Amino acid sequence: MTLETPRLILRPFRKEDVDLLAPLFADRDFMRFSLGPYSREQTATFLDKIIGWERAGKPPMLAACLRETGALLGYCGFFHHPEHGIDDVEIGYRLNPAYWNRGLITEGARKVRDHAFADWKLTRVISLIHPENIPSARVAEKNGMAVEKEITFRGFPTMVWAITREQWLALPERAASETR
Ligand SMILES: CC(C)(COP(=O)(O)OP(=O)(O)OC[C@H]1O[C@@H](n2cnc3c(N)ncnc32)[C@H](O)[C@@H]1OP(=O)(O)O)[C@@H](O)C(=O)NCCC(=O)NCCS
Repeated sequence: MTLETPRLILRPFRKEDVDLLAPLFADRDFMRFSLGPYSREQTATFLDKIIGWERAGKPPMLAACLRETGALLGYCGFFHHPEHGIDDVEIGYRLNPAYWNRGLITEGARKVRDHAFADWKLTRVISLIHPENIPSARVAEKNGMAVEKEITFRGFPTMVWAITREQWLALPERAASETR
C-alpha cells in the first residue's frame, strides 16, 4: 500500500532500491544514533528483512520519496522487534541529511501513525529513540507521542515514546481534520 502526504510518497520497498539506499546507508549522518554506516551488503540484508515483513503481512517499512522529483530520500514506516522481546510495532524513520528540518518526516510519520490506527487497527505504536536524539524526539512529540520509559535497546539507552489508539482518537489535529 502506498501512502501520500502533500510532499511525500511513502511506497513499499523493492529489491532494486538497494542501489538508491546503499549511498544513504553509507552516510554517517543518515545513520546517526544507530550501529553506524552500513556496507552495501548490510544494506541489502536490511532491505531483504523489511521486504520480508511486508510479504509476511506485517505493517510495512516504506520508502520515503519526494513527490516533486520521485527521489528516494529515506524510510518512514514500521519496524518489528520480536527478537528483542518488544511486541509493540515501532514507527521508525531516517532521511537524507540534505532534506532535514523541513518538516518532511513529521509529515510522513503522522501519516504512518494514522495508517497504524485507522487501517492496521493497532492499539498502540511506539518509537525507540536515543535520549540525545533531539530531532527524532521532536518528531515523536509532534506525532502525539509521550515518553513512557527508558530501556536498553541493542546495548544503547533508549527512550520508549508511545501513543495509544485512545490518545490518537483524542488528538486535537484529528478533531480539526474531521470537522473540515
Ligand atoms: C530524525 C529525522 C528523521 C527527522 O527528520 P526531519 O524531516 O528533519 O524532521 P522534521 O523537520 O519533521 O522535524 C525535526 C524537528 O527537530 C527540530 N530540531 C532539529 N535539530 C534540532 C536541535 N539541534 N535542537 C532542537 N530542535 C531541533 C526541528 O526544528 C524540528 O522541529 P520543529 O518543527 O518544532 O522546528 C532526521 O533528523 C534524521 O534522519 N536523523 C538521523 C537518523 C535518525 O536519528 N533517525 C531516528 C532514529 S530514532
